[in-house]
Amino acid sequence: MKKWLNENLLCPECIPEEMPLELDISEEEDEDVIEGGLICSNCGRKYPIKKGIAFILPERSQALLSNGMGYNSREMLSSYLWSHFCDFFNDPDATDAYRIWSANFKGTNGYALDIGCAVGRLSFEMSKTYSHVIGIDTSKTFIEKARELLIKRRLDFELIIEGYITERRSCDLDDQWNYDNMEFIVADALALPFPKSLFSAVSSVNILEKVPDPLLHLAEADRVLREKDSMFLFSDPFSWDESVMDSGLWLGGKSDGQYKGRGIGNIHRILSDGDGLFDPPLEIIEKKDIAWKIRKTANLWEHINSQSVVATR
Ligand SMILES: C[S@@+](CC[C@H](N)C(=O)[O-])C[C@H]1O[C@@H](n2cnc3c(N)ncnc32)[C@H](O)[C@@H]1O
Repeated sequence: MKKWLNENLLCPECIPEEMPLELDISEEEDEDVIEGGLICSNCGRKYPIKKGIAFILPERSQALLSNGMGYNSREMLSSYLWSHFCDFFNDPDATDAYRIWSANFKGTNGYALDIGCAVGRLSFEMSKTYSHVIGIDTSKTFIEKARELLIKRRLDFELIIEGYITERRSCDLDDQWNYDNMEFIVADALALPFPKSLFSAVSSVNILEKVPDPLLHLAEADRVLREKDSMFLFSDPFSWDESVMDSGLWLGGKSDGQYKGRGIGNIHRILSDGDGLFDPPLEIIEKKDIAWKIRKTANLWEHINSQSVVATR
């Protein structure tokens, strides 16, 4: 974990109190902490730094680390590396989704946060605009790979063709990205380990429907987003799923209740009226549907329409 990150880290368990974390270094290389920990000055909890990765999760999400399935599986790693970087190795089926999302990053500067960054493409793109970029995700597998990309500035991975049959894909990454001012950490969208109003840009791309409490995710995005001169990039396919959360927590896809109707309409209202969540509310400056693909195997693809909103305040 790069040392510059430490000055803005807080204990996720003590939020909304802003309790700083004290850095305890066992091993470091240049300005990178390889082994050590972060200790809360209030509750005394210790968050480990292992092989350069900081794990700043509240207790309720610790179990995600030992789950080798879902977003920690080798299948998901292959899928997301393809989705994020297929244009770099000139795959004929590549989409330009991440270039379209990242074209929105202009007009603000300072710190930027990519919530649910997966293997990091959007975070890398943000580094062209912002002085510091932090990507967070609860998947250890994704964050390990994103940090490897950051250090090696090169992609090497086994693309799944079918079952255990794979093909190697390798390529150099963009030399325009500002690798020194980026970092990836394991953290939870529902308890962001950062102070109020730190970020001038926050992205929530394809994660709303994946968290167990979407309203808390939006409230956390609002808490860390600056009150002015800031932008929020939101995008989601709104494919609500009861295996992720109870339908009572969905922000759309229902015929009654506060969040009846389509999710995108509710998000427009939440952002522009504040809805008790965004204070101050935001001004929507762009709405667009973005075609995005996840490649599972040579024969299995998900074609996704992600509905995006760019909003400022
Ligand atoms: C559908 S993927 C989208 C990834 C990326 N934003 C993109 O658009 O390519 C959802 C991501 O959210 C992450 N995620 C799920 N729950 C999370 C949470 N509570 N906090 C942080 N990340 C989470 C997953 O690990 C996964 O990387």
